[in-house]
Amino acid sequence: MSDQSSVIVRPARNIQGLVRFPGDKSISHRYAMLAGLAKGKTVLENFSTGADCASTLGCMQALGCKVTKTNNRVEIEGVGLELKAPQTALDCGNSGSTIRMLAGVAAGQNFTCEMQGDESLSRRPMARVIRPLTLMGAKFASAEGERPPLRITGANGALRAIDYKTPVASAQVKTSVLFAGLLAQGTTTVEEPVRTRDHGELALRAFGAEVQQEKNRASIRGRQQLHAIQASIPGDISSAAFFLCAAALFPDSNLVLENVGLNPTRSALLDVLTALGARVRVLDLSEAGSELSGSIKIEAGRLKGTTISGGQSAALIDELPVLAAIAPYTQEGIEIRDAGELRVKESDRIATVAQSLRSMGAEVEEFADGLRVPGNQKLHGAEIDSHGDHRIAMAFSIAALRAEGETRIAGADAARISFPEFFNMLSAVTES
Ligand code: S3P
Repeated sequence: MSDQSSVIVRPARNIQGLVRFPGDKSISHRYAMLAGLAKGKTVLENFSTGADCASTLGCMQALGCKVTKTNNRVEIEGVGLELKAPQTALDCGNSGSTIRMLAGVAAGQNFTCEMQGDESLSRRPMARVIRPLTLMGAKFASAEGERPPLRITGANGALRAIDYKTPVASAQVKTSVLFAGLLAQGTTTVEEPVRTRDHGELALRAFGAEVQQEKNRASIRGRQQLHAIQASIPGDISSAAFFLCAAALFPDSNLVLENVGLNPTRSALLDVLTALGARVRVLDLSEAGSELSGSIKIEAGRLKGTTISGGQSAALIDELPVLAAIAPYTQEGIEIRDAGELRVKESDRIATVAQSLRSMGAEVEEFADGLRVPGNQKLHGAEIDSHGDHRIAMAFSIAALRAEGETRIAGADAARISFPEFFNMLSAVTES
């Protein structure tokens, strides 16, 4: 159930200005976990401000790491590959990344621990990590349907390497198995059906581990020691996505987005927006820990339409809700296929996107694996329920900017999960 916080979003005339983004959620989770497994003090600047990454920090603390957070700077004193047994269940909150990736770490420990989360997390499938980690020798108990809470008994020194072909295109699963592989005897390989974001591989390397990558396969030799790092985390392109899409909606828009992560496995949205007709330019590019980041300037053009399918859907998985939300304002509409994974996110995002579009008066066709949103539609303001899902709250705030009349986003507070600054930053660049 979504909470009762609500925000009114009014139609805008334009989007203009300069915005700078807090740290990437995917990278923040991984750096926090590996910092705990490294020896020494890791210092992370521009750490994600979202509640999900705070859940990971809480878990690392419960696993024996000293964590100090001052504004967006986080210091973590790692304890090495052997963590401490937590005294209570690990609270993963709303975060699928926390429970799935940390399950890989727990699989190699010498204790039993419990991992639990909120109502939404308790509905999410865990078989995708339980299966490979069980093959490696960890023991799992879970709620019905292999859902949280999880009880994990680590295999300690007996964790076995595997060569695992995962049936789901999921970077969380890949990272979970690689993290377990770091703790196992021998060399672990994960092969995925299509290549997903490679932050796990890059993070392991940044902390000093050797990782091999070839096409859709990644391998790691077990029992490598990690060293602490000092890093600044690039801004989250999945948060920037809402601003890029907002700017794309207005013919006179002119927005500069600073410090955006531009890892090629995450930046497919820039190609989609360009294909739709927006003018997108990367103004500068820098690299740290093999992660690219830079500034982006976007000006809108007339938005055409497009179809997103196959590997592109996996690459855009977190951006699909906002692309669907702006689709009615394109000329030919947007069709999304091969995105069945959206159904098992923080909400069933195919259903919640379709329902929200319909409440704003749009026509939309729903498929098992996606949506088709025709173009050239006029939307009206409406009451939108976020369903407690951060990306739904933010996606429909963007759709509301071009609708007629005001939109009330109920459960807007969900934005805090990945991007607490969202509404303030949006009003700062919106001309009404
Ligand atoms: C993430 C991978 C994606 C994404 C999530 C973060 C990650 O999930 O939706 O927001 O950091 O690896 P899946 O691995 O379930 O696709």
